[in-house]
Amino acid sequence: MEEKKALRNRIKKLLRSQPEQQRKEGSQRVADILFSLPEWNEAHAIGITISLPHEVQTELIISRGWEEGKQIAVPRVKKGTTQMTFYEIHSFSVLEDTFFGLREPKPSECRQIDGQELDLLLVPGVAFDQKGNRLGYGGGYYDRFLHSYKGKTIALAYSQQLVESVPTDERDERVQMIVTERGVYR
Ligand SMILES: Nc1ncnc2c1ncn2[C@@H]1O[C@H](COP(=O)(O)OP(=O)(O)OP(=O)(O)O)[C@@H](O)[C@H]1O
Ligand SMILES: [Mg+2]
Repeated sequence: MEEKKALRNRIKKLLRSQPEQQRKEGSQRVADILFSLPEWNEAHAIGITISLPHEVQTELIISRGWEEGKQIAVPRVKKGTTQMTFYEIHSFSVLEDTFFGLREPKPSECRQIDGQELDLLLVPGVAFDQKGNRLGYGGGYYDRFLHSYKGKTIALAYSQQLVESVPTDERDERVQMIVTERGVYR
């Protein structure tokens, strides 16, 4: 537990100190690699979060998805529960600021969709290793969701988020693939 916390803090600090220009270029490169993958091109319904400032930026990925006619769904954490609910979004205007700096869909303005219908889920996280082990933000939301999810999973990350080995326990779920600005790990 302490080991996870320490790694989480170390990588978050590293990401927050990344210069804006490097962030921009890294995000663009990650997106370009993603758009070249069959997992992206074959996906019809994609689950994705609205990125936090220090993360690989997802707005341009979402916009590209819309251009390509894909269904884009963004999760919302159900208050007082440990579950995520996915809502289809067609515009950034249906989002609202919730907590921890997150932007989530307004349920009154979006259609809820069953997470199991997503054929690709872009999984956020703080740190990853080359086996696909993942360290998230500590809520266990993705571990719970991924436990029963059957679709494809890809994590988008800056290369600074790749570490030799991520500390894991029996409840941690892996991602199938990691895309960084330096390439693809699967
Ligand atoms: N399938 C599960 N069922 C019940 N509790 C779970 C499950 N998966 C994880 N948890 C619990 O959730 C808590 C947070 O887990 P962990 O520290 O691995 O979070 P994380 O992977 O960083 O978060 P997230 O998945 O939200 O990104 C832990 O107490 C863990 O035991
Ligand atoms: Mg976990």
